[in-house]
Amino acid sequence: MLSVAEVETVTFFDELRHREFSRLDKQHHAYLDYAGSGLYGESQLRAHHALLREGIFGNPHSDTGPSRASTEVIEAARRRVLRFFDVDESTHDVCFVANTTAAIKLVAESYPFSPESNCILAADNHNSVNGIREYARHAGARVRYLPLDDELRLFDAELFLCEESLRGGGLVAFPAQSNMSGVQHPLNLVMKARALGFDVLLDVAAFVPSHAFSLRQCPADFVTLSFYKLFGYPTGIGALVARRDALARLRRPWFAGGTVLYASVAADAHRLRPRHEAFEDGTPNFLGIAALDAGFELLAEVGMSRLSAHVAQLTGDFLDELRTLRHGNGSPLVRIYGPRDTTARGGAVTFNVCDRDGAPIPYSPVETRARREGVSLRGGCFCNPGASEAAFGLDAPRIGACFDSLGEDFTLERFAECTNTAVGAVRASIGLANNADDIRRAVEVVASFRE
Ligand SMILES: Cc1ncc(COP(=O)(O)O)c(C=O)c1O
Repeated sequence: MLSVAEVETVTFFDELRHREFSRLDKQHHAYLDYAGSGLYGESQLRAHHALLREGIFGNPHSDTGPSRASTEVIEAARRRVLRFFDVDESTHDVCFVANTTAAIKLVAESYPFSPESNCILAADNHNSVNGIREYARHAGARVRYLPLDDELRLFDAELFLCEESLRGGGLVAFPAQSNMSGVQHPLNLVMKARALGFDVLLDVAAFVPSHAFSLRQCPADFVTLSFYKLFGYPTGIGALVARRDALARLRRPWFAGGTVLYASVAADAHRLRPRHEAFEDGTPNFLGIAALDAGFELLAEVGMSRLSAHVAQLTGDFLDELRTLRHGNGSPLVRIYGPRDTTARGGAVTFNVCDRDGAPIPYSPVETRARREGVSLRGGCFCNPGASEAAFGLDAPRIGACFDSLGEDFTLERFAECTNTAVGAVRASIGLANNADDIRRAVEVVASFRE
């Protein structure tokens, strides 16, 4: 029996779905790929179109009236992003870029790695973070991985960082929430890593779509996000939000239009613009940036704590249902990777459907059946090889042997056969527009594999 508060919450989200996301029910679609992308609400489209219909916006690098209108919109959006992160311009800055990947790459290419410094990455990271290691190695820095435990949580990370700090500082990068397992890594690690002399890049791309995040309380040097993950629209805009002192320590290896006060061909020299301007290459997506405010308005209407509770409730229900599914012979139908309950985890649930002998079946038949039933589930490794390898028990010697033996004939199918693992799982990821019926339909798809 639901409490009064729970009934109020369900009613609120039902009304919201009807008002903002009615296209889901019109098309009988259960969208459970929130870690892939958020969904935009209708109010966002209305607000953006009204702004475009009324406004005259020009290239912000000119100085016409329409250019100034664009600049005003961009600067208001910058302040709104900072407010979302509970800080302001006195301590922090926002660089608008194309997406999370571009934000991470800005740090990777500009960070002062050296043979005396470390690049420490959680084994659980999106490939867009893993790529930092290439810049670090190129500069001669040591690259190390924070290992994971059986629940795919960081294992003894503090001790690991303490030991590494004896060899010098450097950059530590981890996600606030895993896009693979949904694990929420301890945010107090940011403070501890900084106290040991490290800079911290916290990838909040999978965390902030359903959780409040305060840079005042969790003083990461750099955080990275994509706005389409936060509220579905627009695509093509992300941000690097940085402490001003940390941003000032970066050294950009190039310049471009928009980033320089002056670049001389005759003298072969240039002077970068101050602060975020040095990091925003070319003409910003000024019309897209103009759409951010309406996304933040929708999130503000919902309230981040109500949203977190909603996602946790549905995630808990989904996990409970998956755990109870059994084959006729009593063996579990599902193998869940990562935490089995909602403690310190977000709304991404990754699993394999298993046959009656307990062996995982490939993810693609599950993905295909879900698609036919109008349920969006994602299959694969989710660009997170470290968490996936830990989940599947794939270690370096086994992977290396299969890489070597397959050589140029490498395909994912052959690799799966060689390593004798599923090499890929199914992920349901839950967000703002979801309801209990979406969860029921996803469970039905999984249950249909019962033998
Ligand atoms: C945690 C995390 N980091 C980084 C990314 C990369 O985001 P984008 O593709 O928007 O650059 C993703 C995307 O799924 C993600 O979930």
